[in-house]
Amino acid sequence: MEIKGKVIVVTGAANGIGAALAKRFSMLNAKAVVICDIDEKGVESLAQNIGKTFNNIRFMKCDVANRLDLEVVVSSTIKEFGQIDLFCSNAGIIVSGDQSTPTSEWQRAWDVNVMAHVNAANAVLPDMLERGEGYLLNTCSAAGMLTSVGAAPYAVTKHGALAFAEWLSITYGLQGIKVSALCPQVVRTKMIEDAIETGAGSAVTSGGVMLESEDVAMQVVEALAKEQFLILTHEETQKFAERKVADIDKWILGMQKYAANQAT
Ligand SMILES: NC(=O)c1ccc[n+]([C@@H]2O[C@H](COP(=O)([O-])OP(=O)(O)OC[C@H]3O[C@@H](n4cnc5c(N)ncnc54)[C@H](O)[C@@H]3O)[C@@H](O)[C@H]2O)c1
Repeated sequence: MEIKGKVIVVTGAANGIGAALAKRFSMLNAKAVVICDIDEKGVESLAQNIGKTFNNIRFMKCDVANRLDLEVVVSSTIKEFGQIDLFCSNAGIIVSGDQSTPTSEWQRAWDVNVMAHVNAANAVLPDMLERGEGYLLNTCSAAGMLTSVGAAPYAVTKHGALAFAEWLSITYGLQGIKVSALCPQVVRTKMIEDAIETGAGSAVTSGGVMLESEDVAMQVVEALAKEQFLILTHEETQKFAERKVADIDKWILGMQKYAANQAT
């Protein structure tokens, strides 16, 4: 999919990867870019910034864990711009912890990292399926293919996010729906800065070189042009995933040693 002339929604767009995607899409002459976030002030200020050079930028407050919020985003975008060509379900949160982490924290991770994609698909697919075309870009994580040391809720829910993206593609691909799963390793964003500050850093900084959000946005645009399902930002993700599939016991042993090293 080329970006030019497309109507695009981006969630989690007040910061980081979502903000970089919104900026890149507006620079590439999308028809309209609708940016949503639970942080209303953040998307408002980004919209003002992008709006200096791009007319059709809109912002909305939206909690992606809330099905109704996503329905409102989709219906108001379709009302104003006719259709949604690309929906970027990007918002996500790091929840570190283990089996002892309170249920409410596990639930929060589930709601934002998994149900957000379900809610987005639920809202946007009816119109896309009726038209026989549409594109879903779901931001998952390399943690959804490998793991995230020290952050069980994050690792588990990102596996869920990737599983749902696969399921969507398998189920609707032959009806004209394209799906891509963005699986970054480490990208310099507020999420990473906060994770490092709170000590959950090892969960996310183990992922090789730290990329900038703008680099990831460029990689995404290239991958969307090729309509490829899996979008990896780091070369080693593929290598690690191949090792995992080739010999899971060996991979787990290696990860056990790695996790033990991180703990000392
Ligand atoms: N930064 C990384 O290294 C990295 C690596 C792998 C995957 N990811 C994924 O990339 C996505 C974007 O993360 P980022 O690194 O840009 O983080 P970020 O914290 O900079 O941005 C995330 C945005 O999502 C918003 N958000 C959080 N909960 C929300 C909710 N319930 N409803 C709506 N918006 C909400 C936040 O307000 C924020 O603006 C996430 O899904 C994250 O898991 C990031």
